Amino acid sequence: MKNKWCLFVVFYVSFHACLCAETLRLVNLVYRHGDRSPIEIFPKDVNQIEKWPQGLGWLSKIGMKQHYALGQLLKTRYIDTGFMKEEYRRYEISIESSDEDRCLMSAYSNLAGMYPPDDDQKFNHDIPWQPIPVHTRPAYEDNMLNMGEACPRYDELLEKTMETFAIQEEEKRNKMFYQYLGNVSGWDHENISNIWRIADTLYCEKSHNLTVNTWADQKWNNTQTVFEKLRKLENFQFTLLYNGSEMSMLKGGPLLGRYIENMKNKMQFLNVATRMYMYSGHDTTVAALLSALGLFNDVSPQYTATVVVELHEDPSKSFYVNIFYKNQTYNDKFVPLTLPGCAFDCPFDQFVKLTKGAVPTDWKRQCGYPEPKGKSGSSGLSTGWIVSIGLTGLLVVVLVVGITCVVKEQRKHANMPYGRFDVSS
Ligand SMILES: *[C@@H]1O[C@H](CO)[C@@H](O)[C@H](O)[C@H]1NC(C)=O
Ligand SMILES: *[C@@H]1O[C@H](CO)[C@@H](O)[C@H](O)[C@H]1NC(C)=O
Ligand SMILES: *[C@@H]1O[C@H](CO)[C@@H](O)[C@H](O)[C@H]1NC(C)=O
Ligand SMILES: *[C@@H]1O[C@H](CO)[C@@H](O)[C@H](O)[C@H]1NC(C)=O
Repeated sequence: MKNKWCLFVVFYVSFHACLCAETLRLVNLVYRHGDRSPIEIFPKDVNQIEKWPQGLGWLSKIGMKQHYALGQLLKTRYIDTGFMKEEYRRYEISIESSDEDRCLMSAYSNLAGMYPPDDDQKFNHDIPWQPIPVHTRPAYEDNMLNMGEACPRYDELLEKTMETFAIQEEEKRNKMFYQYLGNVSGWDHENISNIWRIADTLYCEKSHNLTVNTWADQKWNNTQTVFEKLRKLENFQFTLLYNGSEMSMLKGGPLLGRYIENMKNKMQFLNVATRMYMYSGHDTTVAALLSALGLFNDVSPQYTATVVVELHEDPSKSFYVNIFYKNQTYNDKFVPLTLPGCAFDCPFDQFVKLTKGAVPTDWKRQCGYPEPKGKSGSSGLSTGWIVSIGLTGLLVVVLVVGITCVVKEQRKHANMPYGRFDVSS
């Protein structure tokens, strides 16, 4: 920007214009990536890997278009209405992605649709695009979006689910079908937990008009095609992943907890500049969050399926929460969902109360990891040491309280329009 004064005027005007008109204060959203190549290819597939130029699990051009369109939709909903600024402002939106190529690329495609640069923001006038940062962390330490971080307790619960009578009956009922799938796919030991790998691959091939595996379109028991039956079983398998509140809490709870934390921050410091937290994940991420909210419809989320949780503030100063689900079934409309036990406009405190059991209090412990060393057990300190440590502690508390009071007094007069975000850097 050329002129700091001009910038100040723009900030001042738009900041105030937004603050008075709308009830919307904060948007949390998570979406599934777009159309992709298959994750795996079965040995007898007529379409082998050469059909997929970038290999497996990669966002296709169709997927890029889908997310570009979703970005445009978000622009219509949140930017064109004046909630967020038309030009990308780095402190207004925070983006975090699962560390898979397809999720990162989905986020980039989405942001291209949401933030076409104005002339001033272009770094090259021939390229109508500007780079926008997307944060990520390795899958093995991500319990929130990728959900690749190990959780022994969850694995145990999943195993138990698979051992239930209903699943064993299911296995019996479909024994011939699984055997048949083994024969035609070249993969042995097909069962409810692994057939999604065939169903999903067939789905990808169909979306890309590749050669059909003829058996997939043949009728099974005269009622449905093999492919249709596979998709149904795939949905069923999906529901087993979040079977019961503890499984939903362990997988969907971390993201729900983050949403709540974001909203609490916003409510406590209304001047926090962030207006949107955007998360890029998988079908499992979206389904886990919906399950934690008690809103999963037992249909595995489509490409670009999005869960939005908005924080609003009404004129009487109370905060409430709105939930929406967007998928392709309803033509990309944001369909309002109501948290069980609450109204659609759910008072924030009630939202927190109702979802309390769905948010982990200590995820690692609840997953069954032991307490970290040194936190428990006797340390063998003598009484003298304990007394002197106690006295030192007391002194520190007195000092901290004193300093806090002084700082608070100074803060009262400080001007911090953008909270912890530094606008000038
Ligand atoms: C699978 O193949 C085996 C060996 O060829 C055959 O005996 C069996 O009947 C086949 N099962 C089905 C369900 O097609
Ligand atoms: C499904 O098959 C896999 C091997 O492909 C096996 O590890 C798993 O235990 C089976 N699950 C059930 C429910 O039989
Ligand atoms: C597949 O075929 C349909 C129908 O002809 C067409 O609308 C669609 O664009 C095609 N998709 C791709 C990826 O080529
Ligand atoms: C799309 O969302 C609507 C509204 O929540 C839901 O009824 C429908 O089942 C969803 N479709 C799929 C394929 O998930």
